[in-house]
Parts: sequence; structure tokens; C-alpha cells
Amino acid sequence: MHYLDHAATTDLRPEAAEEWLRVAAETGNASSTHAAGQRARRILEESRERLAAVLDADPIEVVFTSGGTESVNLAVQGLWRSRAEGLDAVVLPDGEHHATLDTVAALAAEGAGVVAVPLDGVGRIPVSGFADAVASQGVSLATALVANNEVGTINDAEALSAVAARAAVPLHLDAVAAFGHLPVSFRTLRGDAPAGAGLVALSVAGHKIGAPAGTGALVVARTARLAPLLHGGGQQRGLRSGTQDVSGAAALARAAELAEAERAAEAVRIAGIRDSLVAGIRSRVPEAVLLGDPDPSGRLPGNANLLFPGAPSESLLFLLDQAGISASAGSACQAGIAEPSHVVQALGRSEAEARSAVRLTLGRTSTAADVDAVLAVIGDAYRRATGSVRSDSR
Ligand SMILES: Cc1ncc(COP(=O)(O)O)c(C=O)c1O
Repeated sequence: MHYLDHAATTDLRPEAAEEWLRVAAETGNASSTHAAGQRARRILEESRERLAAVLDADPIEVVFTSGGTESVNLAVQGLWRSRAEGLDAVVLPDGEHHATLDTVAALAAEGAGVVAVPLDGVGRIPVSGFADAVASQGVSLATALVANNEVGTINDAEALSAVAARAAVPLHLDAVAAFGHLPVSFRTLRGDAPAGAGLVALSVAGHKIGAPAGTGALVVARTARLAPLLHGGGQQRGLRSGTQDVSGAAALARAAELAEAERAAEAVRIAGIRDSLVAGIRSRVPEAVLLGDPDPSGRLPGNANLLFPGAPSESLLFLLDQAGISASAGSACQAGIAEPSHVVQALGRSEAEARSAVRLTLGRTSTAADVDAVLAVIGDAYRRATGSVRSDSR
């Protein structure tokens, strides 16, 4: 099998799996005061320190969660629910992940206003548009992606954080797609923002970096005002009650350390494979258009997202799957129905074009053989999907 969907989820790292299982075999609730509990507590707090070191944050700022969706919900709902009176609006750039979009939509149903920020043609959040949005009346919080998970475009997160700080608006950054691929320093991104303004919360997810699915974290600045979603035992500064997943935390810390140690070299290696993939596809399908930033330094190293004009993405994905290649459409498939990607449309593309986008994403286990496999079939798959050649599979 050739797996080219590492942005959806990536291989569990053997070292993280080993740590996960070893710690899971230990008994003890990290909140118990007896020796077994204290042992669990020690592993948990060491894991928090290790993850904090990778994210360049204070250990107390790391709140372990069940993954990206929970982290985003805790940040966005939590900030909104602790807003000052009269500040009801949320700054929401176009093209955010559904975890954010749908959370803001749920808040809008409760009375939140939404200040949209259109993306530019390559999928980047314009800093000036973001600055205007955060400076508008009644803004309670802003949220933004560090890098777009569909088209891979990297935002200027430091500049977004600075303009939010200047407007005295708290900012959540969704670093789920960026973590493990780009440097992510909470301290640097926060800069010298005053208490409660600028970057106050940052989301990461374990299964994107080789930790188990169901692990993740939200980094929450000490001075942030955030209402919890879960009420109970008051664990993790009262921000996330519930018995803590010690083995998941240990596995996440291990995966994060490994990802960070190899990040720079892997970025070069993976971008090289990605560039030969894109060049090869374009030579076999000259109609294909690369979405996102054409400058490789402006996009995630493992991301290639292409429009195949006239070819429904589900047909292409089916034909690729038949050839043993796993890829995805621009957007997540909900209940088995492929929606046209809202991100591709946010780049100024039509709904029809958004229905012909295919995302190929690379990761730690990707090799040149994956490229060869795609290039061996993509030309034929395109002609079949556009109907210019009858497909045997119909
Ligand atoms: C940018 C981004 N944010 C949030 C999420 C949600 O994360 P999770 O799948 O861990 O819930 C994803 C997952 O694809 C993502 O890519």
C-alpha cells in the first residue's frame, strides 16, 4: 500500500507505542495520594515537562486533551464563555478546520457575532485583513491556523499574534497541521503580549506526529481567562477535569521529542519527495493545477494539493485506491459524502473546481516509491475520471 494521507493521520511511532504500552501497564491514578498514584503523577508531570520543552512553553501551561478537536473547542468556547460583557464577536478567517468552523457556528447560535477574514489566492490569512478584523468593535477572541491542513499554506503566526496583542484581543492558534513540521514556539509566538491578549492558547494533536489518536494538548498561557468545558475533579488547573491519560501523555511527549529532533532533516527530505511528486503529476497531467503557495517555503513540506479539472475527486480517489494508493479529497468526508472543500473555495475557486481537488500528503514513512506508484497511474486515472477513457471499473 502507498499511503499518501499523512495529514489525516500518520503512522504510530514504534518508540511512542512502546512507551504507551509500558506506562499503560502501570496501575495508579495520577490524582491519588498513595505511592502508586504518585508514581503515575510523576510520569504524567515528566511528560508535561517534555512536551512543554518541545513547544517552548512552561509545563503548567500544557493541558492534555483527547486531541485537536477537543483542544480547539476548549480554546474557542473557553475564551468566548469567559468574555467581557459586550464583547461577543469572534474573528474567524476563512478556510479554518471544521473543528473551529463548527465550534464558532455553535457559538453563533448562542449569539456570537462572526468577523470573517478572507484568504488570499494561495490560502494565506492576510495580516492586514486580520488586523482590521481584530480591531473591529466588540471582538472577544480571534482564532487562526498556523498552517492550513488542506492546502498546506503557512501563515505568519507571529505577525497575527502581534496584531491581536496590539488590539488587546486573545488569540487561539490551531497548530495541529503545523506541529512536527514547522518550528512551533509558544514563547516566541506569544512575544511580549500583555496578560490575556495576543496568543493565549495553542492546539496540537498527537496522531499527526506519530502518537496515538486520542492524545493532544492545548497550551494555555497562565494569564489566559478560559472557561472549562468539562467540570469535575478540577484536574489540570481546573481547565480539563477528568482522570488523566498518563500513558497517552507519555506517548505524546515521546512522539513530540522524536518529531522535533528529526524535523529539520525530514522537512528537506519530504519536501524533495513532494516536489518530484508535483512535477511528475504535472508532466503526466498538464491540466493539473497546484493549489496553495507555489513557493515551497510557504507551504508544509509534505503537502501537495492539486486541482484536476473536470475529474471528480471521488472518481480519482477511487481509481487511486484501486491501485493501492490512499489519498484524500480536499475536505474530510462526512458520513461518506464528499463535500466540495470550503478551503479550496476560500482560495477563490468555484464549487465545481473544489470538487476536483485531491490532497496527497507525505510523512515520516514516505519514500520515492510512493511517488513512482502515483506517477504510474495518475495519467490514466485522470483520463478515466474525466470520462475521456471508459473505466473498466464502472
Ligand atoms: C488543522 C486541524 N485542526 C484540528 C484538527 C482536529 O484534530 P483531531 O483529529 O485530533 O481531533 C485537525 C485534524 O485533521 C486539523 O488538521
